[in-house]
Amino acid sequence: PDPERDRLIQAYEWSAKFYHYLLKNTEHGTAAMEYLRARNFSDKMIDQFQIGYAPDRWDTLVQFLEKRNFDPAEMEKGGLLSARGEGKGYVDRFRGRVIFPIANRTGKVIAFAGRILGEGQPKYLNSPESRLFNKSRILYNLHQSKASIRKTRQIVLFEGYGDVISAWEAGVHNGVATMGTSLTDGHVGLMKSLADEIVLAYDGDKAGQAAAVKAIPMLEEHGLKVKVALLPSGLDPDDFISKHGADRFMEQVMSSAVSSIKFKLIYLKKNHILLEEDGKIAYVKEALEVIATLHSSTEREVYLREIATELELSYDSLKQDCNLLRASLQ
Ligand code: GTP
Ligand code: MN
Ligand code: MN
Ligand code: MN
Ligand code: MN
Repeated sequence: PDPERDRLIQAYEWSAKFYHYLLKNTEHGTAAMEYLRARNFSDKMIDQFQIGYAPDRWDTLVQFLEKRNFDPAEMEKGGLLSARGEGKGYVDRFRGRVIFPIANRTGKVIAFAGRILGEGQPKYLNSPESRLFNKSRILYNLHQSKASIRKTRQIVLFEGYGDVISAWEAGVHNGVATMGTSLTDGHVGLMKSLADEIVLAYDGDKAGQAAAVKAIPMLEEHGLKVKVALLPSGLDPDDFISKHGADRFMEQVMSSAVSSIKFKLIYLKKNHILLEEDGKIAYVKEALEVIATLHSSTEREVYLREIATELELSYDSLKQDCNLLRASLQ
């Protein structure tokens, strides 16, 4: 028994309901509702993900929690309130933000992520780490996706809350997100216990691609198979769905996910100008370093033949260089 933990979970549950109510049923929520509509969040998803709004005032939640006899000092430790800058007392931690409740794997709300309406810093404000909320172990939406994960033995990993939500509506029911791009061994271990394959669906910008490059070896070291869904540069999954629709997302992004090797080759290629000899040679060198690590000679042949065709090189010379490299790696 851990009464403090139970009280905090109770406070988060009620606060999530309260913020959701304020968003949907009061004038406080009008601007936030317009913001969510403009981003194509549907009523159905707003309900399912219990999205809410924290009004731009100092004491909305302070009063709500006070009436229910929660200890404000305890609520401050748990991340719902903040200590007032000077003097005594407490203020709401989340003000003027859309609230995305973050649940643990049993579905209990244990933290909030609050997004500013429009531009501004920080874009997202999270609950601080607490005895309930350990960022490096929590995967957003795991409680709702675990049934589908169990069936498919696959997890789709996104960067953001909006990506998970929009992809859910498009039909991806095994999607989760880390809080930001950094994947930890805690996340990997958790995913390994639930699935055999991870599809990385990171943003189509430099940061997202670099995060995928970093995540691949972490996942593969644990014996997870990795595929990568490719987003056009400048779009994340949520943007893609808003712009091109769910059908195109499922066909052109999810169903077209490539192997981790293929992704690395595509990624390397972007850094070189293949029309110039120097660029071509440098790309082939880097590509061979990736291909040489493959244990299956069939797999090596598949990728070597692709490069041979694409760059108008002979398969034999690529194979020879690849084998030399392999010998030097032994
Ligand atoms: P939207 O602009 O609302 O669509 O957010 P996004 O999810 O596309 O954000 P972005 O791709 O910039 O970042 C991916 C994830 O990183 C977010 O979902 C957050 O979890 C996290 N993140 C981004 N900005 C911040 C920030 O300012 N503070 C914190 N704590 N996390 C952030
Ligand atoms: Mn959307
Ligand atoms: Mn991003
Ligand atoms: Mn994004
Ligand atoms: Mn986004």
